[in-house]
Amino acid sequence: MIQFFHVSKRYPGGQSALDDITFDIPRGQFVFLTGASGAGKTTLLRLIFREEVPSAGQILVNGRNVASIPQSKIPYLRRTIGVVFQDFRLIARKTVFENVTYLPRLLGVDLQGQKKLAYQSLRRVGLAHRLNAFPPELSGGEQQRVAIARALINEPDILIADEPTGNLDPDLSREILRLFLEVNLRGTTVILATHDRDTIQRVGRRVITLDRGAVVLDQELVGTDPPALDLLAGTGPDPEPPPEGEGGAG
Ligand SMILES: Nc1ncnc2c1ncn2[C@@H]1O[C@H](COP(=O)(O)OP(=O)(O)OP(=O)(O)O)[C@@H](O)[C@H]1O
Ligand SMILES: [Mg+2]
Repeated sequence: MIQFFHVSKRYPGGQSALDDITFDIPRGQFVFLTGASGAGKTTLLRLIFREEVPSAGQILVNGRNVASIPQSKIPYLRRTIGVVFQDFRLIARKTVFENVTYLPRLLGVDLQGQKKLAYQSLRRVGLAHRLNAFPPELSGGEQQRVAIARALINEPDILIADEPTGNLDPDLSREILRLFLEVNLRGTTVILATHDRDTIQRVGRRVITLDRGAVVLDQELVGTDPPALDLLAGTGPDPEPPPEGEGGAG
């Protein structure tokens, strides 16, 4: 589903960020991307959703060469990819609701539909009660979770998350990780960049390790502690009631 063939990336100014990267991530896989700060994790992720183009090599996403997609077709690519950015990228002067429903709105979903999607997706991250807040009124961890809700709202084929638990306390970080695993169980391919070796050891799965722009390790890890994550029995973080006017009452 995501294939890199001898991909290199050099930023203008001569800085080499990635060097001769080759891998194949099949549909439905859960992959950790790890490596020290500056190793190239964010750069690699940005290449997948065409925020950057490679300097050399080829990248196929869903069989399509992403570097040659015309500018006008990039939104179609992005529809199928949910992204949680390292720096969140929420719009400060828009409410949580407006932030998370950006894509459905773009796709022409009506207001009622948007409300339903926003509620469902915010509930999964425990923030359905903050629909009308503005991002600056939220804590870093809450903003992180809004960014996750926005990425999940469209049930994307691929979920890319760049240090998604970096701002969360350990409990919340566990919840969010469980959410990603659950999303993966429903068929979404997940690529998660993290420094957190502990989490990786606990959860297991495929781990691609970068060092100064090169893949130095690509291994399948068996988690040491899957029961602690309560993967399949996870009930999600919040038992909030549905909002008024939400369908079902008939
Ligand atoms: N826009 C840019 N212009 C020039 N150089 C860049 C740019 N973005 C990243 N780099 C450089 O590319 C290299 C890889 O950076 P990248 O952000 O991909 O690393 P990272 O693994 O995500 O690091 P971190 O863990 O700190 O987020 C670094 O040397 C960085 O300085
Ligand atoms: Mg990064």
